[in-house]
Amino acid sequence: MEFLKVMLHLVLGFLGIHSNTASANEVAPPLPSSSIARDPNTILILFGTRHGCRNPENYVNPSDKSWGQEGPLELNRIGKKQALGLGKEIRKFIGNDYINANYFGKEAVFYASSAPRCQMTLQTAIAGLYTPLGFADWDKRYDNWSPVPYTIDDQLLRMYNVKNCPKSDEAWAPISNDSLPSLAKMESENIELLKYMAENTGWQPKVSLAADLADNIIMIEHTRAKYPQWMNKPTLAGYDKKKLIAAYSEFAEAHYKACAEHMPCRQMMGGYWLKHTIDSMKTAATGKGPKVIGYASHTEVTLAVMKLMGYTRKELTTSAGFVLEFKNTPQAMVRLLEHDPNPVDKHVIYQGTLIPELSSLQDSNGFIPLADFEKVIGQFEISDWETACGRTNNCQKA
Ligand SMILES: *[C@@H]1O[C@H](CO)[C@@H](O)[C@H](O)[C@H]1NC(C)=O
Repeated sequence: MEFLKVMLHLVLGFLGIHSNTASANEVAPPLPSSSIARDPNTILILFGTRHGCRNPENYVNPSDKSWGQEGPLELNRIGKKQALGLGKEIRKFIGNDYINANYFGKEAVFYASSAPRCQMTLQTAIAGLYTPLGFADWDKRYDNWSPVPYTIDDQLLRMYNVKNCPKSDEAWAPISNDSLPSLAKMESENIELLKYMAENTGWQPKVSLAADLADNIIMIEHTRAKYPQWMNKPTLAGYDKKKLIAAYSEFAEAHYKACAEHMPCRQMMGGYWLKHTIDSMKTAATGKGPKVIGYASHTEVTLAVMKLMGYTRKELTTSAGFVLEFKNTPQAMVRLLEHDPNPVDKHVIYQGTLIPELSSLQDSNGFIPLADFEKVIGQFEISDWETACGRTNNCQKA
């Protein structure tokens, strides 16, 4: 069960609610108790992760200092623990004979979005992946940590932040302004809740702000902090505390999930990253390139690339994502795995659930011939991000 759902269940369970809300009824299958083993013929492992748990953008109770000290949108203590758990589990999966316990630049490369929460997630995951030994054990006081370089690449991992990318702005517009039918419906069906939130916080009565409130609820529950009076003793007709909290929790990640569902946004966010993973596998097939590639990005981008790859997931827990295993024996083949925190320190890597067009191609170990995989998903690859962005200044000569 993914972290957000775990937290929501904790919230609802704690409040004694057996929620009648839609998402609580979708019972996610339990996570496997242990990770799958790496295939002995694997020659490239790619892992992509969403950043770990972060603070909300707006704090519902700014004077409460029991959490959120890192600042709005920053990776917090839970998020760091999740990322460390991911790195440790990736190392367990990889083992110490596939790549060295110490960092070598030829063996592994890492990429992050420019967002601090993604860079810090990657840094913490890498700290879990490497434990400097022997010559690399450079200072006893930093026994378990070695510096490791990574590349910040927003075209790859945060296209929405790339300047002069009108197609990305276009893809986001109906989500940002809540005109996408699913979001418009969510807004109109919950208008009283949104207004009640607005009256008591001064925030706009918008889905994105209610999503922020849901992030606050997770942190309040996790740290057992206090709810503001308007949530503790609601004055909104038909709502007590339990029902109010359950209702706002439903807004969690609404815009990000909508982007990953909305095809123009999905492809714009994930298409170039998809291409990077496929190209890296083709390079590995020629005996070149690194043996491990790690990426850290955002919910909507990571979920988008996973959906382009044919995973059936509809949401992404903090610090969850994918692992791809590539082997060239007996032919070029890929295995699509998922990884999830359970729910904080422990992490698990397991066979991903795929669309039927792909699951029908899997062999008994879950591998799919790369050529067949690309026949199904190749249409979503973006090879030239500038053209995909709709940049029109190609003719301008310097
Ligand atoms: C929201 O964005 C869409 C573009 O996708 C636009 O057509 C629509 O007019 C916008 N609506 C509002 C209320 O701004």
